[in-house]
Amino acid sequence: MIKIAVFASGGGTNLQALLDAQETGLFKGKIGLVFSNLPDAKALERAETHRVESVAITSKGYSGSREEYDKEVLRLCQAKKIDLICLAGYMRILTPVLIKAYEYRIMNIHPALLPKFGGEGMYGHHVHEAVIKAKEKESGATVHFVIEGVDAGPIILQGHVKVFPTDTPQTLSEKVLKVEHLIYPEAVRLFCEKKIIVNEGKVRIIP
Ligand code: GAR
Repeated sequence: MIKIAVFASGGGTNLQALLDAQETGLFKGKIGLVFSNLPDAKALERAETHRVESVAITSKGYSGSREEYDKEVLRLCQAKKIDLICLAGYMRILTPVLIKAYEYRIMNIHPALLPKFGGEGMYGHHVHEAVIKAKEKESGATVHFVIEGVDAGPIILQGHVKVFPTDTPQTLSEKVLKVEHLIYPEAVRLFCEKKIIVNEGKVRIIP
């Protein structure tokens, strides 16, 4: 059984989608840890409701370096025997400390069709604002593996939505979230069934 940690800093609707999918038996994995850098993240409450262990290490005012912070997080994941880390609205850029230890075992969900609208500063509503400003006709969500380099890792799954001239960042975000809630559990299912192969930086999915 693949043991999963979900990292979240915010509302945690993606965490909720993963918890719900686990409960319906979509994937043969177990969410054994919810982690946050913000002790008041709503995601932690969701974990408690579902009796999943939750841990927060406050990043604001943390005395050590970013690497030291990630070393603590890594020790936590190793102690809990975590196989897969799912970033779900986790608003911190990981250091190589975690990325190397969990190579191709950390996934992230991004609210746009990468490689478009990714990179530093492109998160949450900033992404949707940029998509609308660019008058894109289409947007969506991407699940990818995390490598060094923001939003740069091999793409696992994408889901598309139409963007209309009447869309606002809010309406677009709502549409994209619906897609996120479908593709993230599906990507976890593929991982748990060992159907994702990474070769030369590209994902191949075994049918
Ligand atoms: C989601 O839209 C996710 O794609 C985005 O934050 C939101 C979290 O929502 N992540 C990023 O922008 C990362 N670059 P949630 O807390 O309701 O799951």
